[in-house]
Amino acid sequence: MINKLNLLLFFIFINSLSFSQEIKDFKIDSILSLLTLKEKVSMCHAQSQFSSPGVPRLGIPELWMSDGPHGIRAEINWSNWDYSGWTNDYITAFPALTCLAATFNPFLSNQYGTSIGEEARYRKKDILLGPGVNIYRTPLNGRNFEYMGEDPYLASIMVVPYIKGVQTNGVAACVKHFALNNQELWRNHINVQVSDRALNEIYLPAFKAAVKLGETWSIMGAYNQFRGQHCSHHELLLNKILKTDWNFDGVVISDWGGTHNTKEAALNGLDIEMGSPIDTKTPTRQAFDANFLGSSFLELVKSREIDERVLDDKVRRILCLMMRTTLDLGRPLGKINNVEHSHVARQVATEGIVLLKNRANFFPLNPDKKLTIALIGENAIKSMTTGGGSSELKANYEVSPLEGLKKRFKNASIIFSKGYTSENSDQDPKLLISDAIEKATQADVVLFVGGLNKNRGQDCEAEDRKELKLPYNQDYLIGELQKVNPNIGVVLVGGNAVSMPWILKVKAVLQTWYLGSEAGNAIADIISGDSNPSGKLPFSFPVKLNDNSAHFFGELSYPGDGETQIYKDDILVGYRWHDTKNIKPLFSFGHGLSYTTFEISEIKSNKKFYTASDSIILSYKLTNTGRREGAEVVQVYIGKSNSKIPRALKELKGFKKTHLAAGNQTTEIITINISDLSFYDESISNWNLELGDYMVYVGNSSGSISKMTSINIK
Ligand code: BGC
Repeated sequence: MINKLNLLLFFIFINSLSFSQEIKDFKIDSILSLLTLKEKVSMCHAQSQFSSPGVPRLGIPELWMSDGPHGIRAEINWSNWDYSGWTNDYITAFPALTCLAATFNPFLSNQYGTSIGEEARYRKKDILLGPGVNIYRTPLNGRNFEYMGEDPYLASIMVVPYIKGVQTNGVAACVKHFALNNQELWRNHINVQVSDRALNEIYLPAFKAAVKLGETWSIMGAYNQFRGQHCSHHELLLNKILKTDWNFDGVVISDWGGTHNTKEAALNGLDIEMGSPIDTKTPTRQAFDANFLGSSFLELVKSREIDERVLDDKVRRILCLMMRTTLDLGRPLGKINNVEHSHVARQVATEGIVLLKNRANFFPLNPDKKLTIALIGENAIKSMTTGGGSSELKANYEVSPLEGLKKRFKNASIIFSKGYTSENSDQDPKLLISDAIEKATQADVVLFVGGLNKNRGQDCEAEDRKELKLPYNQDYLIGELQKVNPNIGVVLVGGNAVSMPWILKVKAVLQTWYLGSEAGNAIADIISGDSNPSGKLPFSFPVKLNDNSAHFFGELSYPGDGETQIYKDDILVGYRWHDTKNIKPLFSFGHGLSYTTFEISEIKSNKKFYTASDSIILSYKLTNTGRREGAEVVQVYIGKSNSKIPRALKELKGFKKTHLAAGNQTTEIITINISDLSFYDESISNWNLELGDYMVYVGNSSGSISKMTSINIK
């Protein structure tokens, strides 16, 4: 009788959602009171490779998860990693997050999040495993392409609208990998040592923004260790920082197989353990019960070695996430593979492409001319939505650069030659080169489309790259092509910086990332001049590996000694290092050219003297001084003059992207809170604001500052 009454109450509760927090808590408590110990424990671990159970007896649905973060991954088998071979799981492949970051356009990030959330919803996924916001520390990290670059401010600004977009669909974002997962080599065990200051100033801000401003409903614990504890069950990271200091009310999900100990997992903040069954002999749902937050957890609660309240807290969080997703009967139904999603994918791709160099206006190429274009390089035809690890996609379509260019350059004769190969094929590399040289000789223009790819050891999960230079002898090939035809431009595909020993010899370079379904169209948009490039680098390109701070400090700094790694670069990551130590990068953070020119002038701050509670209101005039419509990203960096503590010369504190027609001008404003100039003071374990003079740098990259002005904080 009581059970029936409770059930009735339960259904009344879930049919009357969207009440105040108190009522929500009351509902969650009511459901919780209906659950047996066993049911509660079952909700804390996987039941299949990508789902965790609901409570069938009460009609509480399962939670289904999917990678992330560039599209909804194809269906995977119940208890192994093979693809299930469905035919209804083709999706739109969106550009990689490095590309999204390179747009410097938070509005586009929201459109990206909304669209991918719609696809997740249509595919009946409740949790999207993404976005990723680990900081780009070394160009060798095999997974940088899934993240948002080297700057914590940029990543923070870009991650929030993505999360909001996803979650408007009643699908939870799962921000990953919390925290310090900055390399793939030894990722399952490497023990990161980093100062509290670098942790708080560099590695945590984007996660904090995801929690406090993005209000993400879930977060994924990283594989690696930090100060001797695995991040998926970490007292300091999860219990103290995430759940206490940041008041996170969502669910912590382990990275797949990232859980190592029942008691630690139970007590140190993990809510759902995901990963393959440890018990490999039982290919059924019970197999997952043998995992750490399964039957051994149940035993510890039963024997009261672990307080039931610990379990209840996890289940409360899971139920709260369900209220926001599966139990929200009003959530939208989702959409997939529609033209709007293709449009968003193309716009992000086009806006993210970065024009690194453009001597003598090599780009754009006129599509109306009868040009012979030699298109050389494997990346002109290679699929970039497959490979790379868990972010691999089963794209509904993928336009290659060759296809995209052929479609747009109908008057041109495009002759393709692979030039090199990444496959272990029986193609003779010498013949590939000689064919490419022959084609280059005949052409008016040579476009070399190379770079990295998603093969293991390149931009791919579970391994790091071995070197900064381009693989497969591409440097040599570019040199040979240039000798026979100096009218050559390079189109780089990839998610990481590479060295460019040929940079002075080629006329132009485009950095095009992994662009997803619309790759070839977006590249053609830029090369033809249909779109004017406006992407900016979300990370620095060092000239050589040792110019990067993680590498400068030797092996213990990167990759570590096999057990431990010490982040000796501390807060001087990326451009902070290049600027402070005056080590000129090949291309600076924030750099990106346009087919038009801009002038930033009349830069003024609203005051000269500020107090801690003030904001700097910085105004400037932006003029499009060239002959075509375009967009510029004005960037504001701030540094402390004569600081008492070690600091970076300057740090990004604000930016704005503005579109302007040729000849037009506008006055813009960027607002910066004075409190955001604080540093993390280890002596008080808190943020601290130094008074005195600060220098404000305004420009269009960390290496190109139009104007400096000083302000004072009293
Ligand atoms: C990756 C995660 C991913 C998970 C599920 C792990 O290996 O690190 O990012 O979400 O697998 O595929």
